[in-house]
Amino acid sequence: MTDSNQPTPLQARKSGALHGTARVPGDKSISHRALILGALAVGETRISGLLEGEDVLNTAKAMRALGAKVERTGDCEWRVHGVGVAGFATPEGPLDFGNSGTGCRLAMGAVAGSPIVATFDGDASLRSRPMRRIVDPLELMGAKVMSSHEGGRLPLTLQGARDPLPILYRTPVPSAQIKSAVLLAGLSAPGVTTVIEAEASRDHTELMLQHFGATIVTEAEGAHGRKISLTGQPELRGAPVVVPADPSSAAFPMVAALVVPGSDIELTDVMTNPLRTGLITTLREMGASIEEHDVRGDAGEPMARFRVRGSKLKGVEVPPERAPSMIDEYLVLAVAAAFAEGTTVMRGLHELRVKESDRLEATAAMLRVNGVAVEIAGDDLIVEGKGHVPGGGVVATHMDHRIAMSALAMGLASDKPVTVDDTAFIATSFPDFVPMMRRLGAEFG
Ligand code: S3P
Repeated sequence: MTDSNQPTPLQARKSGALHGTARVPGDKSISHRALILGALAVGETRISGLLEGEDVLNTAKAMRALGAKVERTGDCEWRVHGVGVAGFATPEGPLDFGNSGTGCRLAMGAVAGSPIVATFDGDASLRSRPMRRIVDPLELMGAKVMSSHEGGRLPLTLQGARDPLPILYRTPVPSAQIKSAVLLAGLSAPGVTTVIEAEASRDHTELMLQHFGATIVTEAEGAHGRKISLTGQPELRGAPVVVPADPSSAAFPMVAALVVPGSDIELTDVMTNPLRTGLITTLREMGASIEEHDVRGDAGEPMARFRVRGSKLKGVEVPPERAPSMIDEYLVLAVAAAFAEGTTVMRGLHELRVKESDRLEATAAMLRVNGVAVEIAGDDLIVEGKGHVPGGGVVATHMDHRIAMSALAMGLASDKPVTVDDTAFIATSFPDFVPMMRRLGAEFG
């Protein structure tokens, strides 16, 4: 994705009931991790169902630049031959992670445990995001980071530690990216690296590390937190990874089907890891008809088929401790809240300010420009649902895929069409979004 691309606007208009079955692309978090762990493992990792979105393709390129052999062998089928823990080679040029905070931050952790120097960069959105939260623990482990930008922002150059130290680290905010960066660096350290988080964040790194042969122990910590201890210097062995469909991508057709009256759709193979299902819990509390069938699992990651039907929704209060399990879904939840009857209060959303855009402001702006009453009070978002959305607005996407897809979902049921100023960034996570939604009956023009 280059910033100089011409914007590609799109309009979504009131559509008839959505029908049919769809499989959204592979989970983004698991796709990044499969490539990175595959690159750090000895032997072959075969990945099926990889998300072939721009964010993940940038991680694939970075792993190649660091010395792993990464090949596409078929449709969403990939093969990685890794270099072994601490085995990365110095890349020839800067590693460009485009729009992806996850790819960049996890790779920083992985590089911190190899005695090499690498420069990390990204697009204007990623360059504006905080990196201190990753740099701080990696420096404690012995890495050195040079950035001439305030807050340690990109571009930055990281010198990995020759003899990394195992640390005990309490994450300052609940973030799977911080946790994962520390654990990935801890792979090269002797002894036990421990991460303590006050609220449990997604645990795909822990599950996949175990799947690749590492010893990792997770214990409860306080009311909502976890303590994760990794034994360093394991022999990571390549292992097959089947990537389930991404619940954060399924969220868009799911909410669209809920708000377009008479809809009845099925979404297959959707990952149901409980640390990712806060949106489903919340939508059910709002009165959504969401059924779960054929629950099954692979490598510790469960998945299911969801049947979603158009539903009358009511406003609810979403507690702050639910935020880590639905951190990427508040935009589209706000769309559901706008179509609901009554007030929805979403609490504790400070982390939304440092995503691909300031999502707290962007969500409020998306709703306001389409005639929905919304308020930001500190870290809380309050949406006044009136059972319908006037629409008619042009939504600024701010280089943020999820703003674009949320606004388009909203336009499928609003009184007047909703326009997004640029759909280009949808390709970072859900390249097939527009054609897939059209197949279900969505009207875009
Ligand atoms: C992700 C973690 C979350 C999430 C992001 C993916 C991951 O970020 O917002 O889209 O794969 O680890 P934080 O860890 O910053 O909350």
